[in-house]
Amino acid sequence: MLRRSVMTLPGGRSLLPASLVVLAAAIFFVDTVTNLEIAVAVFYVAIVLVAVRYLDQRRVVVVASACMALTLLSFILTRAGSFPAGMVNCAISLAAIGVTAYLALRTAAAEAAARQAQAQLAHITRVTVLGELTASIAHELNQPLAAIVINGNAALRWLGAKPANPDEAAQAAERIVRDANRATDLIKRLRALTKRGPGKAVWLDVNQIIADTLTLVRSEVARNHVSLAIDLADELPPVQVDPVQIQQVILNLVVNAIEAVSAQPAPSRAVEISTSVVPAGQVIVTVSDSGGGLGGAEQDRLFDAFYTTKPDGMGMGLAISRSIVESHGGRIWAGAAGGRGAAFSFSLPAGKAAIHEPGIARKAPVRK
Ligand SMILES: Nc1ncnc2c1ncn2[C@@H]1O[C@H](COP(=O)(O)OP(=O)(O)OP(=O)(O)O)[C@@H](O)[C@H]1O
Ligand SMILES: [Mg+2]
Repeated sequence: MLRRSVMTLPGGRSLLPASLVVLAAAIFFVDTVTNLEIAVAVFYVAIVLVAVRYLDQRRVVVVASACMALTLLSFILTRAGSFPAGMVNCAISLAAIGVTAYLALRTAAAEAAARQAQAQLAHITRVTVLGELTASIAHELNQPLAAIVINGNAALRWLGAKPANPDEAAQAAERIVRDANRATDLIKRLRALTKRGPGKAVWLDVNQIIADTLTLVRSEVARNHVSLAIDLADELPPVQVDPVQIQQVILNLVVNAIEAVSAQPAPSRAVEISTSVVPAGQVIVTVSDSGGGLGGAEQDRLFDAFYTTKPDGMGMGLAISRSIVESHGGRIWAGAAGGRGAAFSFSLPAGKAAIHEPGIARKAPVRK
């Protein structure tokens, strides 16, 4: 999941510690100059709450302890006002700071545990989807490997010929390198998808993520006699995402679409993936299909965990997709596709500059 970021100066120096120190100094000053009846020290609670938001547990304890020490010091230094009232106020402030720190840390720990459980679940469902695509992935891998064997044999023949033809042999060797790179890329992609642990958010072009994801499902699409069209917008602005997670969302939507059209006769099985930008600064990805549509499902439960209408479905694909998209600051929704069938879309907040990505076809039918 994406991390919370600490305020930083353009030079990269964190503003947070300085802001907390200034705030603490201001509270300390006011607490010391006002009389003992005024419990200004309770405002240290705000510092503790900010610290919990951005700092780790050990640092929060240090901040809370420092706030308590300042509260006591103010109490000792303050001369004006009633001493018993000051004692009560000091005790209330200390309790407020301590209890706030304790509760906020417990909440943060529970949130972290929930995030970790969710990440583990996302990992399990990702591996499950890849398991369903094993045949397709093996086929994708077999193609370059078979080509490597063919070109290897060709190179040997050109070199063994009398006279030897080094130019042809070199061309065959180049094709071997290209195919080996293709196989390596696929394996890298698979390793990234099966890896555990938090990913990294980077600025990327959604069109490229779609192209990468399609290499995993292309054979599955062909095996199911599905006609897949991609309609990618030119010059999409980049999005800051964890590519593995967004690939997981696209995979889930495409696998659902393939499953939805599988009940149709082969010639009318169509799936389309499209991208667009809306003026509000969002990149939209839509996966639509010519399947039976959403009539057979309870639409307000589609994104609920464990909601499924399939005999061997888990009902986790859309739930995980929603949590991934929302953790990236986007939204996911379902509707009817143009003619019939369903259309699932998700949005991601876009950055400023457009990424020019040559080599991704616009409105290109991939397989019939
Ligand atoms: N393209 C689609 N067309 C029609 N219904 C769909 C489509 N995609 C999803 N649904 C409905 O939404 C339900 C939930 O989908 P979701 O992907 O969460 O789970 P699933 O596909 O049933 O199981 P799995 O966890 O294995 O993906 C599906 O069971 C189906 O009823
Ligand atoms: Mg599914």
